[in-house]
Amino acid sequence: MAAALTGCGGGGGGEKAPSGDSAKKITVKFSHVVAETTPKGQAAIKFKEELEKSGQFEVQLFPSSQLYGDKEELEALKANNVQLIAPSVTKLVGFVPAFQLVDMPFLFASDQAAYNFYDGPKGQELMNSLEPQGMLGLGWWPNGSKHFTNSKKPLKKPEDFKGLKFRTQSGGVLDEQFKSLGAGSQTIAFGEVYQALNNKTVDGQENTFNNIDTQKYAEVQKYMTISAHGRLDYVVLTNTTFWNSLNDEQKKLFTDAMNTASQLERQMADELNAKSFETLKNSGKMEIYTLTEEDRQAFIKALQPVYDKYTEAIGKDYIEAARNSK
Ligand code: LMR
Repeated sequence: MAAALTGCGGGGGGEKAPSGDSAKKITVKFSHVVAETTPKGQAAIKFKEELEKSGQFEVQLFPSSQLYGDKEELEALKANNVQLIAPSVTKLVGFVPAFQLVDMPFLFASDQAAYNFYDGPKGQELMNSLEPQGMLGLGWWPNGSKHFTNSKKPLKKPEDFKGLKFRTQSGGVLDEQFKSLGAGSQTIAFGEVYQALNNKTVDGQENTFNNIDTQKYAEVQKYMTISAHGRLDYVVLTNTTFWNSLNDEQKKLFTDAMNTASQLERQMADELNAKSFETLKNSGKMEIYTLTEEDRQAFIKALQPVYDKYTEAIGKDYIEAARNSK
């Protein structure tokens, strides 16, 4: 049973002159690209609630690419125009290629294996790898497994992908994935994907059940294949300029609020993806196919070129740690 969702409007008012008490508060702008009814959206609201209890901070939330899209939010964070973002880690490929690990086909054995990797030494090392770029990781917010959707035909075997074109978030691993399946790909910002599917710029995309549901892709995608071929997970980032401006007490308030929000995020990831799957199934709008073990093996074989090409760029140590995580 899913917990009740919380909503709290879209922030705004960032440029208003603060009055009264808020004059003394530190403003934290948190920008993200998804709806509030997502694990990330709900955790962001929780973070705001927790941090504001201290009376020292005002957290302004900007969901649904309201303030910045995929690329812009990274630039805005580095420029300290926002103090928090939680991008899908694939989008960090330009800074640290190892983040594409989540896209390596069929790498993690389960959600729990992914969580254990993130919480373990290699996950922490990966999160800290952005510091030389002025970005500081505050927590992993996993979302879940990705599944394929498209408007043309059921996708059951690797050869079914031939000639289709898919949206990707970013990075060479995803391009190589689709190339290995005989398909084309195009990087499109999350906020523009519905439109791109609707006007047939691309035939399909890959995402979590919850993103597919909350973005209403079923309106423009007739087929979904439950493949769990890769993951979509987030890392919460602040910038070092902002972080270094906080005193030790404020840093502790910040990390405590983040830990509470991170706990809720994992619970929400489980609950909201399960709920969205039921919604998609019950809507009757999509024809849904689940890969059999035999299909899965065929995909693993067809996608071997992704490992041949990217294992070194990502790091054998990361791949091994992810594969061995239980
Ligand atoms: C996507 O671009 O598909 C995702 O990164 C969106 C998100 O943040 O969940």
